[in-house]
Amino acid sequence: MQRVDDFRLPLGGKQLVPIMIGGMGVDISTKDLALVAARLGGLGHISDAMLPTVSDRRYATKFVKTKLKRFKHNVASMDKTGVRFDLDELAEATRNHVNSTMEAKQGDGLILVNCMEKLTMNGARETLKTRLDAALDAGIDGITLSAGLHLGSLALVQEHSRFRDALFGIIVSSVRALQLFLRKNKNLRRLPDYVIVEGPLAGGHLGFGLEEWPQYDLRTITNEVVQFVRENELNIPVLAAGGIFSGGEAASFLAEGASGVQVATRFTVTHECGLPEDVKQQYFSATEEQIVVNTLSPTGYPMRMLTTGPAIGSGIRPNCEAYGYLLDSNGRCAYVDAWERTRQQNPDIKEKHLVVTDKTCLCTHMRNFDCWTCGAHTWRLKDTTHQREDGSYQMLDAEHVFNDYRYSVGDQIALPERN
Ligand SMILES: Cc1cc2nc3c(=O)[nH]c(=O)nc-3n(C[C@H](O)[C@H](O)[C@H](O)COP(=O)(O)O)c2cc1C
Repeated sequence: MQRVDDFRLPLGGKQLVPIMIGGMGVDISTKDLALVAARLGGLGHISDAMLPTVSDRRYATKFVKTKLKRFKHNVASMDKTGVRFDLDELAEATRNHVNSTMEAKQGDGLILVNCMEKLTMNGARETLKTRLDAALDAGIDGITLSAGLHLGSLALVQEHSRFRDALFGIIVSSVRALQLFLRKNKNLRRLPDYVIVEGPLAGGHLGFGLEEWPQYDLRTITNEVVQFVRENELNIPVLAAGGIFSGGEAASFLAEGASGVQVATRFTVTHECGLPEDVKQQYFSATEEQIVVNTLSPTGYPMRMLTTGPAIGSGIRPNCEAYGYLLDSNGRCAYVDAWERTRQQNPDIKEKHLVVTDKTCLCTHMRNFDCWTCGAHTWRLKDTTHQREDGSYQMLDAEHVFNDYRYSVGDQIALPERN
């Protein structure tokens, strides 16, 4: 029986272990997690979501406080058009995180940054360009373009000195999205270095409509993309992502023509993952019924999450003066609109008791790890470890999970040594 370790992913002049740990914002895929993947010869991701906030927490900067101070006068107003990011601060925050990660990197693997187009930050073009440039400046091995079609993203950095030597990858959920990306970027004469096909069982935002995602399956879409790449002699490695839970399953994708897999859910319950310990226990104990896909994300994309997370039904006041990562280029966010609508419809309810049911404030809740986005197979995590007498589950090491994907065959899941 074949196992993942029988294969290698040729990328960036290396022969990598074909396991990529997916980006998980906000700082759920920490630098520690990415470093483990790189040390073991695979690929890890840090996330570029809300990096000023992450930088404050990790590197003792004060970006959030400074921004809030600058726009304090606007807090009570629902007109957020003037609430903008300082691009120098944004670049510095990005460099802080990427530098610190790359300085600590060991081993033969690669570290990439996951960059979501949907973080429009009240100035989509300039904030995205700033984030991409700063990540390249700070020496990131490559950039994965996610949460959006990214039709113009590569062009934003075409003048950067690392444009041809850094790696760029794109996440798609269909051949059509890949074709569109290639067509729009034809003039740049620069193909993506890797393509991640993300299916309907992934965590985070989904690239499918709310009603349509159950009709798709990862294997079919991956095979379609692999075939398209082959027929057009593009020579781009294709990685499959979303719901791949065991090494045996991963190996079966590789045997069918994928060059690698991107996995995430199994790493949410590792020591290195950024979620707080009590939230990791919630992921372990989740039931299948508690995992839903809904339209609570203000981005407009469906998102998979645990119904037990405190973000659902919360009515906290929008916090765009401090955060504001989802404001579109006109200063609008669907949560701000939902909150204001709810407030007007309930004039007798005190603000702090408002319950907003149709959207959630992703910025504040993701920052506080209160929006528990997860993959479809989260309910199976309890089968990957030991339950203790007190009912809690034994946390895993990222190295153990990585090696389980690498070496296990069939349906086998290696349990950790009891501690
Ligand atoms: C908790 C969590 C957060 C995620 N956040 C992001 C994100 O910020 N950006 C992104 O492109 N993908 C995100 N994803 C998707 C993963 O990177 C990955 O492609 C997918 O979840 C792989 O499927 P699996 O979780 O079943 O292994 C997230 C997944 C999880 C589980």
